[in-house]
Amino acid sequence: MDPSPDPGQRLLEGDAPEEVVLAYHERTKHHFHRYAASPGMMDWATQPNPFRRYGGAELARLPLPQQPGRAVPFWQLYVAGSVAPAPLSIASVSLFFRYALSLTAWKRLSGTTWSLRANPSSGNLHPTEGYAVLPALDGLHDGPAVHHYAPREHGLERRADLDPAVWSALMAGFPTGSFLVGLSSIHWREAWKYGERAFRYCQHDAGHALAAMRISAAALGWRLSLLTDVGDAGVSTILGLDREVDGERTEREHPDMVAAVAPATPGGSAAIPRGLLEDVLRAVGAATWHGSANALSPAHVDWPVIDEVARATHREREPRAEEDLSRFASEDELFAPLVRSGSFSADKVILGRRSAVSMDGATSIPAETFFRMLGRLVPTRDGHSMPWDAIPWRPRIHLGLFVHRVRGLAPGLYALARDPDKVEALRAAMRRDFLWQRPPSCPPGLHLYLLEEGDCQALAAAVSCGQDIAGDGAFSLGMVADYAGSIGTYGAAFYRNLFWEAGAVGQVLYLEAEETGIRATGIGCYFDDPVHEVFGLPKSWQSLYHFTVGGPVEDVRLTTSPGYGQDGGRS
Ligand SMILES: Cc1cc2nc3c(=O)[nH]c(=O)nc-3n(C[C@H](O)[C@H](O)[C@H](O)COP(=O)(O)O)c2cc1C
Repeated sequence: MDPSPDPGQRLLEGDAPEEVVLAYHERTKHHFHRYAASPGMMDWATQPNPFRRYGGAELARLPLPQQPGRAVPFWQLYVAGSVAPAPLSIASVSLFFRYALSLTAWKRLSGTTWSLRANPSSGNLHPTEGYAVLPALDGLHDGPAVHHYAPREHGLERRADLDPAVWSALMAGFPTGSFLVGLSSIHWREAWKYGERAFRYCQHDAGHALAAMRISAAALGWRLSLLTDVGDAGVSTILGLDREVDGERTEREHPDMVAAVAPATPGGSAAIPRGLLEDVLRAVGAATWHGSANALSPAHVDWPVIDEVARATHREREPRAEEDLSRFASEDELFAPLVRSGSFSADKVILGRRSAVSMDGATSIPAETFFRMLGRLVPTRDGHSMPWDAIPWRPRIHLGLFVHRVRGLAPGLYALARDPDKVEALRAAMRRDFLWQRPPSCPPGLHLYLLEEGDCQALAAAVSCGQDIAGDGAFSLGMVADYAGSIGTYGAAFYRNLFWEAGAVGQVLYLEAEETGIRATGIGCYFDDPVHEVFGLPKSWQSLYHFTVGGPVEDVRLTTSPGYGQDGGRS
């Protein structure tokens, strides 16, 4: 397919944004006989720099946390109110970014070196940039400011100085000790390798990063809430994304989200505003801004459909919908017995997260472990389950599972409804001949069903672009979205939220796998419609992401060194 149509020609047909988005989704499906349009080869001369820097903005290096950064067991992060809130300081902000977006390893293979981070990324291309809007903090800066996170240096670049009165107005209504964080995406980083499908991957990565931030906040005794009333223009203003004058040369950052981080309060959460005041946002935009973005590649290939879908999913502000969790399970209905012990510290699980590049085809897990992992993916009735408390919408992503090696469960196809009110809708949407049997010993609150018994290792690999990791793990899965229902409720911009939710599901699975002593891998390459055929799903449901969990096989050719060396390793 020609990625360079006549200027002005639209490739995604449709008048309404919802039609344009659906056209994008259909066009970027991988089929057995044809992959979505991409460069087909990697042009190493234009490989994007994974590190954005703002030249001219002052960089404050964050003190590297001693290990363990927070001596809490990983399981405790899920128990609301059980971690004492850390005071807001340069040390706690440092640990927040360390657990969310920092470098966790450098890898080397025959002269080539690359870094890996706490958050995963499709193709390790890392389109996601992180920001924080912070008050004056000793050792960081003597006034409130907007900062861009520089992962290679583990530092904060000061992009804007805020008037203390503007900071006070910005945070009025938020609990004492709150601050803001934000994410943006550089679509080009993913498009360089993946072409038109890249927009999807950027959204997945943003979802992973959102969950990584929420989980990091939990380790500090903080909560994190997405500000869904802040539209894209507001996100751009507060993160300074609309300021680039040198837009021809430097790659644009697209606004993703702003979230508030606040100390957790025992026994629940006082309401956190979902928006920011327009006139205060204008005052942030009018602050003194510093620095200009580096160019990441010397030349670029245009992928016009990405710009078209980005326009169609532009968010004014999220429409509000009544999201009632009263029929969801309580914690003790999801986890019987409650999980109050585990294998590893939060520090080890979060900083040790890694994708398996290959699975051993042998490791099995007990059914209780499988149920625990799935239970972590479901919000609880009280709305306090982490990380799902960060997002205000009820789950729109459900799982079609390929179970290979779970002790006590028959191998085969399973379904997990992450919303109890969607079981019947899923049953009606899927193949008529499925069994819909509850597995033995499954906790009552977990809506997990056996659909069909049988060895589905080859099938799982086949629909995951032939990747063996999907068949060689203990289980793999396709994440299916209640697509038409969600876009109908929230509009076209919610297309991005669906991927964020899928990314968050993936992030929880990554960490749950680490806690179990095994590994996971996100799978963005899968054949969309063949997955629908396996489960019999109509087009009102769409598969958005795949995942595999199992016993990893290490690549012994690689050498590994820490994200930051003895001397800070940040030169
Ligand atoms: C959205 C997404 C899609 C991915 N798709 C694949 C895939 O199709 N196949 C694969 O082997 N790894 C896939 N990965 C894993 C990445 O390659 C991996 O995250 C990246 O190389 C960084 O390594 P790390 O996860 O160990 O930090 C995916 C990861 C993400 C977040």
